[in-house]
Amino acid sequence: MEHLLSMEDLSTTEIEQLISRASEFKARKSDHPKYNDTFVANLFFENSTRTKSSFLVAEQKLGLNLVDFETSTSSVQKGESLYDTCKTLESIGVNLLVIRHPNNAYYEELRNINIPIVNGGDGSGQHPTQSLLDLMTIYEEYGYFKGLKVLICGDIKNSRVARSNYHSLTALGAEVMFSSPPEWQDESIGASYVDIDEVINQVDIVMLLRVQHERHHKSEVSTFKAQDYHQQYGLNQQRYSKLQSHSIIMHPAPVNRGVEIADPLVEASQSRIFKQMENGMYLRMAVIDTILKGRKG
Ligand code: CP
Repeated sequence: MEHLLSMEDLSTTEIEQLISRASEFKARKSDHPKYNDTFVANLFFENSTRTKSSFLVAEQKLGLNLVDFETSTSSVQKGESLYDTCKTLESIGVNLLVIRHPNNAYYEELRNINIPIVNGGDGSGQHPTQSLLDLMTIYEEYGYFKGLKVLICGDIKNSRVARSNYHSLTALGAEVMFSSPPEWQDESIGASYVDIDEVINQVDIVMLLRVQHERHHKSEVSTFKAQDYHQQYGLNQQRYSKLQSHSIIMHPAPVNRGVEIADPLVEASQSRIFKQMENGMYLRMAVIDTILKGRKG
């Protein structure tokens, strides 16, 4: 694996290998490799808590040297392009870039960058490390993917998580359904849309998505009624009580408590939301280790 840009670039074997490596790190089955001669920069052009912090912890556990980069204090503020920023870091001696950017497929303009790029999320396009940590969490729970019924609820149109997970879960043999208000549906993805109340008692996984107001038109934000949304599409206590006892709740977070999911359910016994975050750090270690090991040959 040279880069990690999209789940569509990974084979199911590569996905399974990454989950296995992350699980080894989690179980401390192998010593951490130490990349003391390797430099990494994390370029976050969109806000982040989980992705950025877990990459930082993963990188430090692997002994990488971190190159400080903040868009607010960099020459991005003087108009430097993404390509020139990345080419500069490559020239200085940075060996790997983690990038989150609001533009879909921003990495297409970086084809002449000769160091690995890990996509930390591109607009509404892809969020491959989120998808991999979701898959790791599901695999820990069930030990398989084939035949699992997965309901993904919410702001599908704007969700790089829905896009990445639909592709990877389907490739691994799971059945993925969507539930969403008509205005946030995206027919190009390929899943069928269902009524949450008709399937809630049959699914193995309910994945709630954050309502992404920052990607909505102003008029949509001003007319959005959180209570109505929660009532029609959210996971409330009544729906939670209909879940099968083995079913789990997931959410990529940050969570709008009381909107996508009732506040007390975020840490309910069937929620794996904080487990997803825990797994994210190990999964990101696995991604970086796999890429760097490949380069060392
Ligand atoms: N799930 C996720 O990507 O969270 P952050 O935006 O906080 O990184």
